[in-house]
Amino acid sequence: MKHRILQIGPITPSVDARLARDYDVTPLWQQPEPAAFLAEHGARFEGVAVHLRDACGAPLLEALPNAKVVANFGVGYDKIDVEAAKRLGMQVSNTPRVLDGCVADLAMGLAIDVARGISTTDRFVRAGGWKSGQRPLMTRVHGKNMGLLGFGGIGQAVARRAAGFDMAVRYHSRRPVENAPQRHEPSLVELAKWADFLVVACPGGPQTRHLVNAEVMDALGPAGILINIARGSIVDEAALVRALQAGRLGGAGLDVFENEPHVPEAMLDMDNVVVLSHIAGFTRESRADMERLVCDNLDAYFRSGHVMTPV
Ligand code: GLV
Repeated sequence: MKHRILQIGPITPSVDARLARDYDVTPLWQQPEPAAFLAEHGARFEGVAVHLRDACGAPLLEALPNAKVVANFGVGYDKIDVEAAKRLGMQVSNTPRVLDGCVADLAMGLAIDVARGISTTDRFVRAGGWKSGQRPLMTRVHGKNMGLLGFGGIGQAVARRAAGFDMAVRYHSRRPVENAPQRHEPSLVELAKWADFLVVACPGGPQTRHLVNAEVMDALGPAGILINIARGSIVDEAALVRALQAGRLGGAGLDVFENEPHVPEAMLDMDNVVVLSHIAGFTRESRADMERLVCDNLDAYFRSGHVMTPV
């Protein structure tokens, strides 16, 4: 007998196919009335598979009294009410580590792009601008100060890359990371004052909402560059637009937004802003590892009673 899994939304074709092969899967997104469906059939399910973009709040979890595992496709799990899941005796897993390097690569890419103007220069050349002029001087990257908000796997991977650019690195997190040679800065505002680049690399969710506010942006200042490869909710986006419009912040490289796929209209005309579409972890290699890990977590739970990478 296959275990009965509720899948909240499509994940990837390969995950969907592996789950359909190994489990008795019900696709919630295909139910015309998901809430009514859960009220009637919620007790059937022994586990949940969810993509990082899909909400998995307390009402949904409470409708699944026999589900004891929630496997998330993604390192970030801010759409899952983990507290509710734990209260209900559910284990929650994510896909950590396998995408740290790719996310860190993109953080460096964004830092270099904003500082050196790669995207804007590409647009300039394509539009024929080089035939009649040259771009303004931009900003050096190597040797500068990089502040990291968050110093987990991704933050530390960014720090290793920054060291290759001869950058000084300090970080802010809830507590200092043991044995880390980089200096822990207890105040985010002080970190931003010191930094030329501030890279957001902490988890999203209610605890970190709008941690990067107007005060932090002002501390980073008119020459400072904000990079966000974590979650849009961590940055006060309205305050960010105001800071950029007023020239109180030097620039921003953003892979994530508060209300994806919405990107504030005002940013689209700003040459000191690079906007991406939440692609940091999504290389073929990382995605394949994430696909394996989300399924392996479910398999491990049903085999041993424990997920491999609990949150
Ligand atoms: C990507 O954003 C992830 O959380 O894996």
